[in-house]
Amino acid sequence: MSPKYSGAGLTKNSMKIIQVLKDNPPLSPITRLVEYEGRKTVWKDYSERSCWVKDTWGRLLIRHEAESIKRLTGIKGIPRLIKTVGEYGFLQEYIDGEPLKKFRKETLPFSVFDKMSNLVETLHQRGVVHLDLGQKKNILLDKDYNPYFIDFANALYFRQEALGFNGLFKALCLIDYSALLKFKHRFFPETLTEKEKRWLKWFFFSRHFWILKPKTYRQKDKIKI
Ligand SMILES: Nc1ncnc2c1ncn2[C@@H]1O[C@H](COP(=O)(O)OP(=O)(O)O)[C@@H](O)[C@H]1O
Ligand SMILES: [Mg+2]
Repeated sequence: MSPKYSGAGLTKNSMKIIQVLKDNPPLSPITRLVEYEGRKTVWKDYSERSCWVKDTWGRLLIRHEAESIKRLTGIKGIPRLIKTVGEYGFLQEYIDGEPLKKFRKETLPFSVFDKMSNLVETLHQRGVVHLDLGQKKNILLDKDYNPYFIDFANALYFRQEALGFNGLFKALCLIDYSALLKFKHRFFPETLTEKEKRWLKWFFFSRHFWILKPKTYRQKDKIKI
């Protein structure tokens, strides 16, 4: 089936597909590397999925993700939203980098951890929690080891002044912090403070009681001290 560009203000000629980056049918969007206005961009899109998918959560999720990325405009480390593509897709700035999962621990400078912590802090200051940073493929590093967060499908936005939501927001921020600590534990275990070790231990223990287990849950994440 050929991709649809309906209502997008885009024509087949204005977007040239270079490569499929991810295609996991039937429930997930297709992510492609495309050329748009002479630049490499990423096109995340549900338009080729079945009506049951694209006209239900597909269009909701894509709109939700585009909104989240838009809220983070101007932050270095968050690829910019270029435009929405019809009802089912959006174009995002392409980052020429490699996913964190491709790096071995000996090759990474500790500054990556500091930069990632700052980025998480900046996100939270804008009222956004990412919630899927535990997946190392959602973090890209450029050639200078600058981190970029992608995949805001699970992200949530909280208005800071909204009554009663501050507590929930702070609780969800802990999920992003735990992803940071998990990263530190894997790549720089010798730098974990006693407090961080205790926190991680508690966090992994608490997951025994979670009703929903994130797909990132793995035995080797458990902290051994
Ligand atoms: N802005 C981007 N720059 C470079 N590569 C990207 C970008 N966004 C996504 N990708 C690549 O496409 C893959 C799938 O994108 P992602 O947003 O994580 O989709 P999904 O929600 O299906 O997991 C990523 O793992 C990454 O390799
Ligand atoms: Mg992803």
